[in-house]
Amino acid sequence: MKKQILLVDDDAAYANVVHRVLMKSGYDVETVYQPTQGLQLLKLKKFDLILSDFKMPKMNGLQFFEEIRKTDSSVPFVIMTGFANEHQPESVIQTGASGFLAKPFNSESMLKLFKAILFDESDQEAFEAPEVEFRELGIDEFISGKIGNFNIFVRLESGRFLKVVHSGEELTPGRLLAYKKRGLTSLYLKLEDYQKYVDMQLKLAQAVTQSQVVSREKRVAFVRRSNEFVLHQIFSFGVDEHLFQHVKNLMELNIKTLAQSDELLNLIGSLNSISDQMISHSMGVSIYSTLLAKALGWDSQDALFNIYVGALFHDMGLRTMPLSMTQKPYVDYTAEELKEYQRHPLIALDMLKGFPDITTEVLLIIAQHHESPTGNGFPAGLSDALIFPMAKVVAIADEFCELVIKSPGSASHGVLRSHVDALKFLTQIKGSFLDQKMLEVFLGLFSSTKKGAA
Ligand SMILES: [Fe+2]
Ligand SMILES: [Fe+2]
Repeated sequence: MKKQILLVDDDAAYANVVHRVLMKSGYDVETVYQPTQGLQLLKLKKFDLILSDFKMPKMNGLQFFEEIRKTDSSVPFVIMTGFANEHQPESVIQTGASGFLAKPFNSESMLKLFKAILFDESDQEAFEAPEVEFRELGIDEFISGKIGNFNIFVRLESGRFLKVVHSGEELTPGRLLAYKKRGLTSLYLKLEDYQKYVDMQLKLAQAVTQSQVVSREKRVAFVRRSNEFVLHQIFSFGVDEHLFQHVKNLMELNIKTLAQSDELLNLIGSLNSISDQMISHSMGVSIYSTLLAKALGWDSQDALFNIYVGALFHDMGLRTMPLSMTQKPYVDYTAEELKEYQRHPLIALDMLKGFPDITTEVLLIIAQHHESPTGNGFPAGLSDALIFPMAKVVAIADEFCELVIKSPGSASHGVLRSHVDALKFLTQIKGSFLDQKMLEVFLGLFSSTKKGAA
């Protein structure tokens, strides 16, 4: 069935042009020249979208919109205004309109906007794609956050994807509301855009913590928020759902314990100074380490907290490396730089050993997270029997995070990998350096994938 549009504009000549364009593009259009007539029509008939002029005598576009909202809160409302109008697009958008067109607009931008709001299964631009190329985000998450320059997709009932927001375009609260009213619960970002999205969110959080004096509440909120983003990413990777829920609760417990220590909170703050990607890397490693430890049956809350803290600060030693090093991929290191880099576990050990809230277990994790059961790890080249088991857990999570989330030095692997690719790489290339039994359990975490991991 054709979509029904109600067009309201007191400028009859303009309205008639728009009317014709819409009819030609396959819409059914009713055009009236006064908002009061529009209100009459709305009583008789359901519309899929209302396109209204802003500047009209007696009742302007916003007043018209308010009247409509009294009886129907769901119909998408797009407003047109002239450049001369003192109403800025932002203030119009804040009223809850689904879109905004600045007069004079070309028909292409109008049709693009309408399609983005009124898309359906028959849309010719919808395409098939493996779900693993996308990251699903709850629609409410978009409402609470700022949108950046990302392409945003919806998933149609047929499973095909359709781009509804083009990079640079604004996804307004009103449009999100319209999507929600249509029953959409999620939107999708491409894997590479999702990384950018998370980065942007983490940067926002970091900006808060780095501004002047930061209260404890704000720091904890920052940790929680960053943790949530990394967790969200892991969830969309399709880790066993039951285990995920459990880890989510555990992370919440860990953060509560962490929040009691000013010392640990300050240390998290200083992770920022290493590199932009240090926070997401550290949090990723802490979450995956906890996941693996749980899967290994390590249930003690103390043990899990030690692993969490050890994983959070495992790369603290990179803090003394020059920026020229932390900002370039490992593969580009000179022999000298590599030698320097391989000292980072010991540097961290030195830095942290005087801290009352840092336990011996945490120190061991940090000192040994690059040791390998093969005896070829660094800095000490310890043999298998001498490596602390918790350090082996963190080593696996560390290698995995280098592949799937932004991490300092991980540009060496080019584009970030999907978890399926990362697991392959881990078994084929890195596997022999890691603890075999633990690696197997780690791989098992992803075998009962929630969706589309084939
Ligand atoms: Fe490291
Ligand atoms: Fe690391």
